[in-house]
Amino acid sequence: MEDLKVVIGSDHGGFHYKEAIMDYLKTRNIEFIDVGTHTRESCDYPDIAKEVAKKVSSGEYNRGILVCGTGIGMSIAANKVRGIRAALCGDTYSARVCRAHNNANVLCLGERVIGEHLALDIVDIWLKTGFEGGRHKRRIDTIE
Ligand code: RB5
Repeated sequence: MEDLKVVIGSDHGGFHYKEAIMDYLKTRNIEFIDVGTHTRESCDYPDIAKEVAKKVSSGEYNRGILVCGTGIGMSIAANKVRGIRAALCGDTYSARVCRAHNNANVLCLGERVIGEHLALDIVDIWLKTGFEGGRHKRRIDTIE
């Protein structure tokens, strides 16, 4: 596995899964920072998405994880930041292939959509999978 530096964030709709993912990261000694939200009170997901996306696009962190109710708002917002390839995943196949083919640097999850154990499996696979490069790099370069 590459050296991982993860930045994680959620709104109130993703707060519980953020806690569970941080527990997972701790047990595997993966370096991470939590940019909030830090309570279950209602907050605006674009602010959190921007903070995570900026920390990845600057190179300060190499992976970002964002959780909201659906994962959709987070992915829309994060993908507005240059250099961000945010993938909303609800299955493990997409988690693997968005890394292998799309070199996704931000993972988005929907706490109100998928079960917690599936979410943790997705995180596990997504963090472990490398980018295949080659023809996939050409396509990413085209996006950039
Ligand atoms: C919050 O109610 C909800 O809209 C948010 O978590 C997310 O699902 C937005 O895409």
